[in-house]
This record gives sequence, C-alpha cells and structure tokens, in this order.
Amino acid sequence: MVQLSQALAAVLLATGVVAHPGGNVNKEILRRQAHLDHPNRRSIQSCKRDLVESGWVREQHQRREARLHELRVAAGFAKEHELVRRDPAEVEADYGVEAACTLDPESTEGPYWVTGELIRSDVLTGQTGAITHLDINVIDTTGCKPVTDAYVELWGSNATGVYTGVQAKGNGDGSATAVATNALRGLQPTGQNGTATFTTVIPGHYVGRTNHLHTIIHHGAKLLANNTIQGGTISHVGQFYVEQNFLGQVEKTTPYNTNKQAITTNAADMLFNMGKQGGDDPVLKISLIGSKIEDGLYATIDVGVNPKARQNPQPVNAWTANGGVPVPGSPWTGYPDSCKYCGFKPPKEKKDVLFEA
Ligand SMILES: *[C@@H]1O[C@H](CO)[C@@H](O)[C@H](O)[C@H]1NC(C)=O
Ligand SMILES: *[C@@H]1O[C@H](CO)[C@@H](O)[C@H](O)[C@H]1NC(C)=O
Ligand SMILES: *[C@@H]1O[C@H](CO)[C@@H](O)[C@H](O)[C@H]1NC(C)=O
Repeated sequence: MVQLSQALAAVLLATGVVAHPGGNVNKEILRRQAHLDHPNRRSIQSCKRDLVESGWVREQHQRREARLHELRVAAGFAKEHELVRRDPAEVEADYGVEAACTLDPESTEGPYWVTGELIRSDVLTGQTGAITHLDINVIDTTGCKPVTDAYVELWGSNATGVYTGVQAKGNGDGSATAVATNALRGLQPTGQNGTATFTTVIPGHYVGRTNHLHTIIHHGAKLLANNTIQGGTISHVGQFYVEQNFLGQVEKTTPYNTNKQAITTNAADMLFNMGKQGGDDPVLKISLIGSKIEDGLYATIDVGVNPKARQNPQPVNAWTANGGVPVPGSPWTGYPDSCKYCGFKPPKEKKDVLFEA
C-alpha cells in the first residue's frame, strides 16, 4: 500500500497539480502519505477482536438496526413488530473488513471550514435534498474503545453544491447570500457509545470534486454557554463519500438534477482515491428508509482515530451571531485565486508534514 501510494504521489507531484477545488493537492498527498507511513497508525481492523469480544460491535449493530427500523415505523413504511434482525455473528465476522465501512483516512479540511458552529444534531436549517440520518461511531484505535468524550463536526455543500457560511468565487454564484446561514454545519458530542448523530442531506457536487461530507474530530474542547465549543485538539480531519451507483440515483432526484456544475465521479476524484488507500473505506453505508430516495436515508460509518494525534486544519471563516465572518490570517483567504495554500510548494523533508503522533 505504501509503495502504491508513493507511486501515486510521485505521478501527481510530477504533474504539478495545485489549486484543486478541493484544496491543495500536493499538500494533501504529503499529509496522507505521512499518515499512512506513521509507525503508530492503526486501523479499525486491528481493533476488530477487542471490539467484538467486548460486545461493542454487536451492540452497535443492533442499536443501528433498531434505529433504522424506528425511522421506518415513523415514516409509515413498517410496523413496530416487523423488525427483522440480521444474524449478529455474521455482522461480527464482517466487521472491519474494507466493505464494512471503516475509516481512518486523513484528508483536507478544504477551503470552506467555518469554525464556531453550533452543537446541534439536525443541521438542515431549511435545506432540501436527500434527507440523511447519519450515525457516526468514533473509535480510539490505540485502545480499541469507543471515544466517549469527543465532538464530531460535520459540514457539507447543499444539494446544488454550494457551501453556507462562506463567500468565494466558484461557491455557487459567488455572491454573499450563503454567508448568512449556518445550514448543513454543526457538531455533536459522541457520548456513551462513541456515537454522534446528525440529520443532513447528501451533499451536491461542485466543479472538480465528487459529492462529499467533511468531518473533524475534536478532543478536550470546552463547551461555551452559547452552545459552541472552544479550544481542545483535533485528531482527525476526514471526508465521507457515497457509493457511485447510488450517487447516480441521488443525482437524478430534485433538486440535485437542477445543479448545472460539472460532475466529477468518485473514480475521477483524487481525494476520494487517496481516502481509499491503506485498507480504508470512507464510503457511507446507506439504507433507504422507505421505497425511494425521497423517503429519506439512513447512513452509518465508523471513524478510527488516535485521540493523541494533532491535526492543524485552518478555518476560513467563523460563525457568529452575525453570520460567517473572516478569520484573520487564514491561509484559505482569497481562495481560489490568491490564498496562501493555493501556491503551496511541497516541503522536501517529511518532518514538515502536518501529522504528529
Ligand atoms: C449505547 O448502546 C446501548 C446498547 O445498544 C444502548 O442500550 C444505549 O441506549 C446506548 N446509549 C446511548 C447514549 O445511545
Ligand atoms: C444552495 O445554496 C445556494 C446559495 O444560498 C442557493 O441559491 C440554492 O438554492 C441552494 N440549493 C438548494 C437546493 O436549496
Ligand atoms: C459564542 O461565544 C463565543 C465566546 O464569547 C463568541 O466568540 C462566539 O462568536 C459566539 N458564537 C455565537 C454563534 O454566538
């Protein structure tokens, strides 16, 4: 895996790809490579035995199974007594293999991270699209236990591929309309089982990127009186994706089918391909709640982190009572034309890369 990704890195560095709409590619290749090469890196697969033996895998599977059923009953697609459970032994056997939705890639925060977002589970704030009930489990891969005291931050573009809280050329029509809303952004504490849940939409596509959701995992942050967090450290910066065939079906529904921006498939998305390296699978496991996408979706993913790792993502804006305001000195200011990260030259020494254990 390491050799393969180094070869990929060499090709990409040789082509001099910079100022990609998803962020700076050279920087990302180096960051991802450092993560994969790190001696302390462990995947969820390496925790499989502990998580199965402690009963956590079974419990979480059954909790999610019951939650999906609850959503189906609430939407009128099933009766309460109709829950059919999958054999938990089969679930345990499958856990942690690539297809089982595990993840520990490090990826870019991208140019549109807005810090200071609210702690809330339902982040829709009036946005429409394929409504998705997202269930994220966070696992400490150094101790093979759920992380019970973290905050999961989530953000994504809206169904037509525009981010809220920011104004930038290429973000929708580039006007300031989206700065005034915090839709599709928020944080949740992980709690007893290491679980954070959100209600959001499947993000739309925009030029140069396949559809993706962003996440950041915060540790040791202080809860403020106005329902935001401050301080602490960040162990993980990642992106979640949607399986391509299913994504094609979503893109045929309204309002996704009104999005005029060019489509990039997963296979053609460099950051998606980087996220798939090293046995990781950053693809959400998605179930229909009813008989079609418009009836709503239930999505799950497990994120493996080293809580002591330190990532240093940079927000472009901060959310305030007056909307999104610029963060002074952000390296993303001016994106995509003149930001500090737009002309990034990769350092020669690996020690300059952003990952530390
Ligand atoms: C944690 O999981 C257990 C087992 O599924 C469940 O009974 C409990 O309600 C969950 N706790 C929370 C806070 O979700
Ligand atoms: C996405 O956001 C833009 C900018 O605010 C808005 O014009 C567009 O209607 C939104 N898309 C949807 C599906 O609401
Ligand atoms: C929450 O409080 C902090 C600290 O006073 C402040 O910086 C921030 O702007 C506030 N956020 C909102 C959304 O009111």
